[in-house]
Amino acid sequence: MLHRNIAAIDISEQSIKVLKLNAAREIVSYGSSQLETGIVENGLIKNGEAFSAKLDEVLRSTKPEVLRPAQRSLQCILSLPESQLFLHYLELPDSIKNDAIEEYVKKEAAGVIPFALGEMYSTYHIARIDDIQHVTFVATPKDVVHNYVKVLTEANLRPAAIGGGFFSLGRALMPNDIGEDNYIIIDIGAHATNIGVFDVDAVANFTASVPVGGTHLTAKVAERLTLSLDEAERIKKERGMMPSDTGDGLADALTEGLSDAVQEIKRVKTYYEEKTERKITKAILAGGSALLPGIGAHIASQIGIEVRIGEPFLKLKEYSAFPSDTPPIFFAGVIGLALRGLDDTLPGVDLLTEYRRDRDDGGKESIPLRDIRSLGEALYVVRGMLGKTKEKTSKVIHRLHLDVRVNVKLLLSTLFALSMLGVLIVVIIMYT
Ligand SMILES: Nc1ncnc2c1ncn2[C@@H]1O[C@H](COP(=O)(O)OP(=O)(O)OP(=O)(O)O)[C@@H](O)[C@H]1O
Ligand SMILES: [Mg+2]
Repeated sequence: MLHRNIAAIDISEQSIKVLKLNAAREIVSYGSSQLETGIVENGLIKNGEAFSAKLDEVLRSTKPEVLRPAQRSLQCILSLPESQLFLHYLELPDSIKNDAIEEYVKKEAAGVIPFALGEMYSTYHIARIDDIQHVTFVATPKDVVHNYVKVLTEANLRPAAIGGGFFSLGRALMPNDIGEDNYIIIDIGAHATNIGVFDVDAVANFTASVPVGGTHLTAKVAERLTLSLDEAERIKKERGMMPSDTGDGLADALTEGLSDAVQEIKRVKTYYEEKTERKITKAILAGGSALLPGIGAHIASQIGIEVRIGEPFLKLKEYSAFPSDTPPIFFAGVIGLALRGLDDTLPGVDLLTEYRRDRDDGGKESIPLRDIRSLGEALYVVRGMLGKTKEKTSKVIHRLHLDVRVNVKLLLSTLFALSMLGVLIVVIIMYT
């Protein structure tokens, strides 16, 4: 595993959470802060100045290690909310050659995504299931990426990768050994229920969303039991939907409130099972509404498979820096992000790849030499340099119409040796 010095920043409309793990999956730094309404809205940072100030405050108060000012310019990884992502799922025909996949996937996606792909950054992940290549294609408007990169750069952070919220959840909640089981993750938040099917790895093979969440459930309870929203929220959390609790109609109100979400879960499960002829055998609940008493048993009775709440702490060796009064499920997003920050070989998507390609830096994030802090980062930089050199050399050769494959190998080996030497000299100078 390549250990990289990256902090995960989980941004929602209500809060910022920052987490950095070490290679042993222990917490190096954790901090969080609530955000006032309007700073982040509809998945965009609307007030960059206020956001930067809050983020700086969090970075200066992380525990056990303070991230700022100890770290000069910190690398970070973040994920975009589902509302800003456009996903498409497809199968690749057997006949397709590797170098034609990107063009094929984009052409297929262009037919279903309601924006011109030229105005979006996109990426895709391929999973081989029963010898068929399944593609998860993800795109987001360029403006969204520019919004996050600008604000974070101004806050003196260097974005290393941008993923999607559901991919982080998958990484945090899917078992390391998926085995023969296929999973459905059901994330019931405040405003929406996001549903994803996970088959062979921690990238969803299919997702769907319904506008049903905790806010909607509270409103339903308030209406049915003629209570204020505060009172409804309190009894919703306290009593939930236990089958034995039939007295005042609370369980019925919640059952009714959840019915559209349950219908969608059933639809996704049936669709995936019919399409792939593979059974979904387990369900994992996430999001704050997963804590509703009795919700697991209710969904299990409706979809006929085992349902349990996600346990993101299983992915960590140590987690004492997290506040003990907050249930673990609320850290699932930031843990999944931090795991990706630790190891860039984990399955996931990165919406910065095309952004960097656009800016002609080879599609790989670079680290200023003065910021290299581990052998893993030094190797990462060398790998990036090689990638760029290879790409530029091929362009020149292509232009000159030369068939010099043997010489290219020789040239690349020489460049590799020289780059290694260069990085070694810089590291020696920095640490002596
Ligand atoms: N113990 C509990 N029982 C029932 N519901 C709860 C409990 N704790 C929190 N919730 C509900 O969880 C919701 C917040 O969940 P979460 O933090 O996952 O939402 P979010 O990620 O901000 O929202 P979204 O994903 O929809 O944008 C609130 O509606 C709240 O009422
Ligand atoms: Mg959420």
